[in-house]
Amino acid sequence: MTHYQAILNHLNEQPKKWLITGVAGFIGSNLLEALLKNNQIVTGLDNFSTGFPHNLEQVKSLVTPEQWQRFNFIEGDITDFNTCKEICTDINYVLHEAALGSVPRSIADPINTNASNISGFLNMLVAARDAKVNRFVYAASSSTYGDHPDLPKVEDRIGNPLSPYSVTKLVNELYAGVFAKTYNFKTIGLRYFNVFGQRQNPNGAYAAVIPKWVAAMINNESVYINGDGETSRDFCYIDNTVQMNILAAVAQDEVANQVYNVAVGDRTTLNHLFELIRSGLEPQYPHLKGFNPIYQDFRAGDVRHSLADISKAKSLLGYNPGYRIEGGIKYALGWYTKEKV
Ligand SMILES: NC(=O)c1ccc[n+]([C@@H]2O[C@H](COP(=O)([O-])OP(=O)(O)OC[C@H]3O[C@@H](n4cnc5c(N)ncnc54)[C@H](O)[C@@H]3O)[C@@H](O)[C@H]2O)c1
Repeated sequence: MTHYQAILNHLNEQPKKWLITGVAGFIGSNLLEALLKNNQIVTGLDNFSTGFPHNLEQVKSLVTPEQWQRFNFIEGDITDFNTCKEICTDINYVLHEAALGSVPRSIADPINTNASNISGFLNMLVAARDAKVNRFVYAASSSTYGDHPDLPKVEDRIGNPLSPYSVTKLVNELYAGVFAKTYNFKTIGLRYFNVFGQRQNPNGAYAAVIPKWVAAMINNESVYINGDGETSRDFCYIDNTVQMNILAAVAQDEVANQVYNVAVGDRTTLNHLFELIRSGLEPQYPHLKGFNPIYQDFRAGDVRHSLADISKAKSLLGYNPGYRIEGGIKYALGWYTKEKV
């Protein structure tokens, strides 16, 4: 039995109370699904700025009525401190996902990005500290590596931020560090590297690359690659990310108050990603035979290469990513084609 499975078994025997902020979003709704399927008690908050009621409806359809009854949803905003106080009451573990994602959105709208990602984050830290939660796990980001040239990315070597978004995620880490020293408050930051999978939104100007391309290919629309296509990323299937959140929440205090890379440790270029998606969809969508991308300029704020060293998460948290990109893409494509995006 894996370390993760043993933890899930233990949680099933002794259910805990969890709070997920950003629960109607991509990662939040997947955390909700996993926790409810393991019979946990969950409070969820969302303001539906980039998340959707239909994500919650889908989770409802995937769990039993008894499991769904253990979920309490609150519509609200983390920029309101009283809301944060209310939702943190009587909670064991906080999984803080609520934030405005996307580098280009932050360049277009740094003020609102700052409000949710920094002021909202601080509200949640203070509220969770005051409520004496056991662990505060938060969504950090690989964008914090900024312009540091080293590959693979190792947690303690970061560069300068390249966008307002990455400033906000760096500030989150700085606040969490100060809360550890000043108040002995236990946090773990998870530096996600390009997470993908079911319920990631394919629509809108700020959609992530995988859902955006999948939807474009299914609908026979153009696919644009920013730059020459040799830009690379460490794409991480959502189930790996869920695993890291649960491991981080229940881990010993000795391994808290630090950040961990959440990825697979594989480097995939955009050209290779395009081909993986195209060939994966072609059997169902024959119009994709011979389909080619359109290359355009590099995008401001994007880093050229991103690849994680995941040895710290493996050794200190027992992380064991079950999915590499090829396996994850198969599941993701299955979901997008079923949903007819
Ligand atoms: N998806 C990735 O690849 C990735 C990579 C690095 C970091 N992250 C971080 O992970 C977290 C979750 O990302 P996601 O991909 O699920 O995005 P998402 O947009 O699908 O989910 C974010 C959720 O937070 C909610 N939200 C935003 N601001 C809020 C506020 N002020 N009050 C209450 N709710 C609010 C949104 O409505 C949405 O449901 C974010 O913090 C993001 O920055 C994601």
